[in-house]
Amino acid sequence: MNIKLTAQLPKTHTQKILKKEAKDKDSSCLVVLVDNNKNILASDSLTEYQERIEQLMAVSHFSGKACETVADYALAGDKKTTKANPLQLLIVGVGAIDKLNHSALQKIAKTIYQSTQKRVASLTIALGDALQENEFSQLALNLLAATYRFDKYKSEQTTPVLTDIYLLADNSLQSALDFAQSVFVGQSLTRDVANEPGNICFPAYMAEQAQELGKKYSDILKVTVLGEEEMSALGMECFLAVSRGSVREGKLVIMEYQGKSKFTANHSASYRDNANSAAKAGLKAIADKLPLKANTKKGNNSDAPIVLVGKGVTFDSGGISIKPGAAMDEMKFDMGGSASVLGTIQALCEARLPINVVGALACAENMPSGEATRPGDIVKAMNGKSVEILNTDAEGRLVLADTLCYIQRYNPKAIIDVATLTGACVVALGHVRSAVFSNDEDVLFELESASAQSGDLIWHMPLDDEYQSLLDSPIADMQNIGGKGAGAVTAACFLSRFVEEGQAWAHLDIAGTAWNSGKEKAATGRPVPLFMQYLKNSVDMA
Ligand code: BES
Ligand code: MN
Ligand code: ZN
Repeated sequence: MNIKLTAQLPKTHTQKILKKEAKDKDSSCLVVLVDNNKNILASDSLTEYQERIEQLMAVSHFSGKACETVADYALAGDKKTTKANPLQLLIVGVGAIDKLNHSALQKIAKTIYQSTQKRVASLTIALGDALQENEFSQLALNLLAATYRFDKYKSEQTTPVLTDIYLLADNSLQSALDFAQSVFVGQSLTRDVANEPGNICFPAYMAEQAQELGKKYSDILKVTVLGEEEMSALGMECFLAVSRGSVREGKLVIMEYQGKSKFTANHSASYRDNANSAAKAGLKAIADKLPLKANTKKGNNSDAPIVLVGKGVTFDSGGISIKPGAAMDEMKFDMGGSASVLGTIQALCEARLPINVVGALACAENMPSGEATRPGDIVKAMNGKSVEILNTDAEGRLVLADTLCYIQRYNPKAIIDVATLTGACVVALGHVRSAVFSNDEDVLFELESASAQSGDLIWHMPLDDEYQSLLDSPIADMQNIGGKGAGAVTAACFLSRFVEEGQAWAHLDIAGTAWNSGKEKAATGRPVPLFMQYLKNSVDMA
């Protein structure tokens, strides 16, 4: 889909139509937005159509409530009629203009796309200066997102007639539109990989997707893949406890987006015996390469990266603690966190934001087998802490624990992990907001601001110390599950134990927001818009 700003209304087709030469590819439609007071948005640019718009609203009793539509496709006929009706016209209600929130903008964008995609080749949407920049960006992204399809496994694909969208608006919005396009590219990759079934998308497939990006954006992106042997040498027993039941090898994929400066970490796994000193050695390796400032607070060096860590369980059967059969297929989406990190890295490469970011994809398949981890098994994480695995279905926190240990060698400005971590999160927040947990007020504030700006919503959840004791094990440093209550919180508490003192960190539980179930079963591409807004704001702050 091409999407562009324009200062012009679409050309009329009077001539062509009279000559019967109109082709699908020439057809265009003017989309007029009207609020619930029947005010026409961008009316200054629409004076030549005002009468026709008002007539159409009157005869159809159009009220302007959100997503109400009325169309006038009358085109052909005698010369006179054609002259009076030179263009296809679609009027779309937007409701109360001061209450245009994310969900309204999403529905309006969907309505515009769905009512035109089979009818016309191009659209001009008259926006004028009616929308604020955030609203404009959200509308643009939602229009693009509405064009997304995943029909590669259908024998027949339908191609939309619509190919071009023009937004009649001020050209000061060009950079907002460019940014929305970058986000769309990344978000589509997220949806593509997450929609792939588990027999196609397994850890090595995730690694390949990352390496493809590494080739495509080789000037700013460096990709390193660690296999099970390397992870074993690093002492990542928690990670390996998950992947060992599967014939598919687990992969830890590290993507270094070098938008501000060249940096890298020492990925060498030779220091196997002392995990703590290994972490420190790695930390020093990166510190040596980065021009550290006098300030010693972690991640205060202005080149220090923000690290995004994604849960990448390409299929979660539950392992020996096997899941019930109903909707188990949806556990192919259990790599949605790492898919969103992958997509965010691509969006960054497209937008070329001048910052440093590391994406880490913790990819494993959770399967039952003779090799699989048993409930009751005890393993050690890379930081030396022992974990009693009471439930092999609480596997996401295990792959994340070791990945969190590993990426702290970057001395990050902030770490944000993202995971389809708990069913309890879906119970708490449903499919509207992702949960956010954080040990750092600044990171939390920045994420909440980005949430409001992008419309990719989150909700703050607690991390009080009092919850931590639910993870006490009689035999190991901790167990991998809490009690009956607060399942999303205890999962976050578990992760917090692998974040060093003073390291800014946030955890997003996207179990309810990464995909839609039922008839519309598909990945949503969240929280790529949230991440991109957060990262963009981090540039503006620097
Ligand atoms: N991937 C699931 C969480 C999940 C469940 C996401 C349903 C979306 C929908 C995760 O690995 C899991 O199984 N969590 C368990 C944890 C429990 C064993 C403590 C859960 O939520 O039931
Ligand atoms: Mn599970
Ligand atoms: Zn899982």
